[in-house]
Amino acid sequence: MTEATTTIDRYGVMGYPISHSRSPVIHRLFALQTGQNMQYELLQVSPEKLETAVRQFQRTGGKGLNVTVPHKSEVAKLVDQMSERASTAGAVNTIAFRGSEIYGDNTDGIGLLRDLSVNLGVHLEDANILILGAGGATRGIIGPLLEMQPAGLRIANRTLGKAQALADHFESQGPITACRFNVVPVGEPYDLIINATSAGLQGDTPPYPEAGISENTICYDLSYGLNPTPFSIWAREHGAAKSVMGWGMLVEQAAESFNLWRGIRPDTAPVLKQMHINA
Ligand code: ATR
Repeated sequence: MTEATTTIDRYGVMGYPISHSRSPVIHRLFALQTGQNMQYELLQVSPEKLETAVRQFQRTGGKGLNVTVPHKSEVAKLVDQMSERASTAGAVNTIAFRGSEIYGDNTDGIGLLRDLSVNLGVHLEDANILILGAGGATRGIIGPLLEMQPAGLRIANRTLGKAQALADHFESQGPITACRFNVVPVGEPYDLIINATSAGLQGDTPPYPEAGISENTICYDLSYGLNPTPFSIWAREHGAAKSVMGWGMLVEQAAESFNLWRGIRPDTAPVLKQMHINA
């Protein structure tokens, strides 16, 4: 009789640093919920070792990876094929190993959209949206947000040139404009303000644009933490209708990655609840 060998499909997340990542917990909960036999590892990989680590994971039978800060742009150069949304974002956060091929996708934008529309009930069509910051995180969400046909999307950044470059790049896809970080026009409150700067991560509290906020504004910080982020505190103090951190986006982007790998989309609501986080 031949002995049956059970091999568990291997996945993981690569980042630097990575110890804080909640992705293993989220994917374990998804696997339990959907009855998938898989494991998910935390992989600390420095930038100079990225390519070697990705190829080694593939060579040793790994099925897929999430890729996070600071690797999302660099890993896009390693993939053989890329989804349109990853190509638009210029960044990859999900890899699927398909035989010898590496396929790259980006689930961040759709993760944000699902959190905003499904979990939080935000109407994006005809909304006036302000994004703070013009780095990689902003680039990843502009395309999906414009697809929702907002009335306007303004990018405000400390360095005007970077915001303007993004506005120029995406101008054929919708009504997008750029301005300096703290000169958001007075009398122009937004329905939604998204903080996509890395200021909070560095412990900075830049002068967030007060002119953009009113009691009808929903404020969303792509950053999240166990304690309120500086932006979410600022939003509460300035009377926002709602101030939300990016926990929901994290869980939703993970669900999209899981779906790409396993062909089944987990129910995110119980996972958000189980994580006991203030989403
Ligand atoms: P990410 O990939 O997370 O977007 P990034 O590409 O380094 O990271 O971009 C960081 C963004 O946060 C940039 O828009 C940056 O502004 P600049 O383009 O002017 O550098 C913004 N940012 C970082 N620290 C900031 C601060 N203290 N005040 C305002 N904006 C800040």
